[in-house]
Amino acid sequence: MDAALAGRIYLDNAATSWPKPAAVYEAVDRYQRNCGAAHGRGATRQAGEVRRLIDRCRERAARLLGAPSADSIVFGFNGTDALNMALHGVLRPGDHVVTTVLEHNSVLRPLAELRERMGIAVTHVPVDASGVLDLDALRRALEGPTALVVVTHASNVTGAIQPIGEIAALARERGVVCLVDAAQSAGHLPIDVQQLGVDLLACSGHKGLLGPLGTGLLYVRPEIADRVRSFRQGGTGSRSESDRQPDALPDKFESGNHNAPGLVGLEAALAWIEDQGGVPRLRAHEQQLTTALLTGLSELAGARVYGPPEPAQRTGVVSLTIDGFDPQELAAILDENFGIETRAGLHCAPGAHAALGTLETGGTLRMSVGAFTTAEHVAAAVSAVREIVSA
Ligand SMILES: Cc1ncc(COP(=O)(O)O)c(C=O)c1O
Repeated sequence: MDAALAGRIYLDNAATSWPKPAAVYEAVDRYQRNCGAAHGRGATRQAGEVRRLIDRCRERAARLLGAPSADSIVFGFNGTDALNMALHGVLRPGDHVVTTVLEHNSVLRPLAELRERMGIAVTHVPVDASGVLDLDALRRALEGPTALVVVTHASNVTGAIQPIGEIAALARERGVVCLVDAAQSAGHLPIDVQQLGVDLLACSGHKGLLGPLGTGLLYVRPEIADRVRSFRQGGTGSRSESDRQPDALPDKFESGNHNAPGLVGLEAALAWIEDQGGVPRLRAHEQQLTTALLTGLSELAGARVYGPPEPAQRTGVVSLTIDGFDPQELAAILDENFGIETRAGLHCAPGAHAALGTLETGGTLRMSVGAFTTAEHVAAAVSAVREIVSA
């Protein structure tokens, strides 16, 4: 690692992961310097090279998510973009959508926009005290005609893992499309979209999947692709004689030039994850760190740590408040005095804070571990918070 950055303790992996595997930087640099060709737009050798890399990225992503085919993976520019493709693509005027109070603004805001534009109705299902969706309330919410259920796989505020298999089964029994926001779970938790029985799954490429910023993806179950309209239309490098958007996956949803440098980097990141033994290995590492973080922080005087107490029920996202301290102030001291990067505030999920009771009090201080976080980083963070609160 760059010597200037060696002292940096980065605990904001829920926003975007850092650092990336060295192979990611190398792949982006190599592509930018030596290739630079657009994907799907020509027949030169370099165009062939970028096509091969992006095809391989799609294959790796499909493998990581248990998708039935590479074509069921659609690339977008971040998790928000993938969620917008799904929400705008599925919903029609007057539809009813069931979601949860935990959702990120990347779900809440498209839904609010669609409510204004075309009168969709939205039901927000509550969560229990540890931030896990109430399945009985979900069952009740699904009693009337419903077009879509959209649920986060893991809360970006508390790390609480949601029962996606059960949620998808309830949706399937009722013929309701199930969309999962996997921004906080992809690369952190093993995911098999076919086993889970989900129709659509959106995630960032730059968080747990360890790719560069500007990458995201949407899994579309091939059997429901007809029910999803294209979100943006334009050149795809295929069926160029027609003024209609192609129907075939993934071109239906991929118009305009790809973020080729980003996807080449994502390909290298997914290869690195495979080489490390896959997501289960990363999960084991992150769970160990999360356990240490939870234990260390819970012992501090006046600290309140949110979410399920069991590390098995959560990802590596830990939110806390400390009596008498403003979360923003804590984050600023950690950064300025200790070189520890965290995040404070509402984390774009106001409903989650309303449920935790932290909406009016500045939200929480959030620490989120990642593939490159070490036990020393966690120990330093706990010790720094202890020093601040006991000063
Ligand atoms: C739960 C959740 N959903 C969606 C997103 C949006 O992802 P992106 O930043 O890739 O647009 C985030 C980002 O923090 C998130 O935490």
